[in-house]
Formats: sequence, structure tokens, C-alpha cells
Amino acid sequence: MPPRFLKPSLRGFEPYLPGQQPPDGEDWIKLNTNESPYPPSPRVLAALREAVGDTLRLYPAPLADPAAGALAQAHGLDPAWVRLGNGEDELIAMCFRAFAGAGDRVAFTWPTYPLLEPLCGIHEAVPSPHPLGADWSLPPSFAADPAPLKFLVNPNSPTGTWYGREEVAAVIAAAQGVVVLDEAYVDFAPESRLDLLAEHDNLLILRTMSKSYALAGMRIGFAFGHPDLLASLDTVKDSYNLDRLSIVAAKAAAEDRAHRDSLVSRVVADREWFAGELRALDFRVCPSSANFVFTRPPEGVAAEEVFSGLRRRRVLVRHFGKPPLDGWLRITIGTREQLAKVLRGIAEILQG
Ligand SMILES: Cc1ncc(COP(=O)(O)O)c(C=O)c1O
Repeated sequence: MPPRFLKPSLRGFEPYLPGQQPPDGEDWIKLNTNESPYPPSPRVLAALREAVGDTLRLYPAPLADPAAGALAQAHGLDPAWVRLGNGEDELIAMCFRAFAGAGDRVAFTWPTYPLLEPLCGIHEAVPSPHPLGADWSLPPSFAADPAPLKFLVNPNSPTGTWYGREEVAAVIAAAQGVVVLDEAYVDFAPESRLDLLAEHDNLLILRTMSKSYALAGMRIGFAFGHPDLLASLDTVKDSYNLDRLSIVAAKAAAEDRAHRDSLVSRVVADREWFAGELRALDFRVCPSSANFVFTRPPEGVAAEEVFSGLRRRRVLVRHFGKPPLDGWLRITIGTREQLAKVLRGIAEILQG
């Protein structure tokens, strides 16, 4: 049935389709949405248990102050440089609301996080995609684009590619508007670009607790930026965008750095091992600085075939059906046991 009441600008619009999220309790190996295979910090779980009580009848702190304070301290920043969102996705949407009006260009590299193009549709902004070059390198056209809002995902998803300091700094320095540096996966990368914050008042760095903090289910994102830039975000935010439990969880997670570091080092070690095993099966594997690998099956084997074969073995990985991604798979780094099962499945699929 045609969408009778949908506003005309959204007719024919293709929404963002997140990776499949099967019901809890089904025995899938879930390597399709880059969640953590390990649990969150026990300190987070204890803080949550304690927080379930009478204060839930009261609205939460509008700026999530306890969590902002803990994040500021953990990253050596003043709390005035920190904001939180209901997942990083909310912060990305807030950037559209605050910095790009109808008809404005929004620039991003391509391929990258596939939420950006649908958000352009919702906000009636004009997408300005810049195809990545050989080996997913940054094209010079991206820095030169005069768009008032630009997104650079580093490490990039789904490719896992890492862009170094000079390249990122050049994009920010050349920008005529706001540059959003999406660092959702940065804890798995060599270093972060927090060092650029003090030099650029048009830079907003976005992070998430969905990956390295193992809290995808809590929906916690955070932003670092100049207080004037954050004040612009405040003007478009929902009054109470984080609930009380998320604020408690975010604070406890930010305070337990040792837990995050140990989770990250396991994932990074397993990523390198898994990439080596895939290469031994003649898969092409992009160097990854994230908690997933982006990989292409050997000549003559379709990515779709590997995706479906794994699905039949109750393993979910991500296959984006459209070019230039259709020949590739993105596989989240799970536990060693899970990855070993993926490798056994792939070996069987290759044997036909
Ligand atoms: C590049 C990128 N940015 C942002 C997000 C969203 O993070 P969150 O779960 O905090 O909304 C994701 C989620 O997968 C992502 O891949």
C-alpha cells in the first residue's frame, strides 16, 4: 500500500536497514553489527542494579552530567567539552538538525557508514558522496568540498581503513563548516584524534559505548568538541535524551578503563589472527583498525554465497548488496571459538 500520510519528500525514500537482530536466546553467532562478544564491566552491572529504585520516577539530568564528568576525566578534557547522546546515532542526527538545512550539501566519503545518506533524505539535505580511491584511500575532492557539514569515519566502516593525522587535519583545516569525525571504532585503532580538538573549533568527535565498552544495548554515544559547537547541539536535542540507567552505566563504564583496555586487546589480537587465517584461505582482507574485518572471497566465489552458507550454519555476518560493496563481507571479531566456527564453515563452503 502506498504510504498515504508520509510527507512527499520521503516518498520513494530508502531507509537505513540495520543488520539483522534475532530474538535473544536463539543460538546465532552474531558477527553482523560489530557488538562486543564479551560482557560489559562488572562495575557497570553493579551500578545499574543499585540505580533501579525510587529515583526512576524523576526525570534524568538533561546533560547527563555525572557521565559527562566521568568521560571528561577519562579523556583529559574539561566537562564543558563533552556531551552525550542516546547512542552515537542520535548525535549524528543532531548534527543534521543543527548544521545542515534543507538544500544544504552534506559531504561524506563512500563507502562509509550507510546511515548518512538516509539522514540526508530525512533532513532534505543534498548528499555529496566522495568515492574512496584505490585501497579505500581518501580522495582529494573530499577536503575541497565546501559543504557546511562533513562526516569522516575513522577507522572507516565497513572497510576498517585508518586515516593518519595529516590526512585528517588537512580535511578539517580546509573545511568551510563543521567536520564530524566519527570515531566509533577508534579504541581498536593506533591512536585517536583528540589532539586536534584544541586546534579546531569546527571539529566534533563522536564516539560510542556500543563497541569497546560492550554496551550496545544501553544506547550511549558521546561527543567531544568546542563548547560553542556543543551549545549548537544543545539547541536541537531532546530535553532528556539519556535515561537515568544509561547515565549510570556510562559513568561506571567511563571509570573502568582497565575493563575496556583488556576487551580491546583481546579483540585486536584475535582480529590479526583471524585475518591471517582468512588470507590462508585465499580471502583478500583489508588491513583493519576496527573490531571487524572487511574481506573478499577468492576469485570465483561470490560473497553472497559465503554469506548464505554461513547463515545456514547459524552465523550472521554483514553483506551489503550494492556496488562497490557487493563482493565483500564485513565480519565482526567474535571470540576465538566463534571465529574458529566461521573458518570451518567457510572451508566447507569453499569445498562446495
Ligand atoms: C561508523 C559508526 N558510527 C556510529 C555508529 C552508531 O553507534 P551507536 O550504537 O552508538 O548508535 C555505528 C554503529 O555501528 C557505526 O558503525
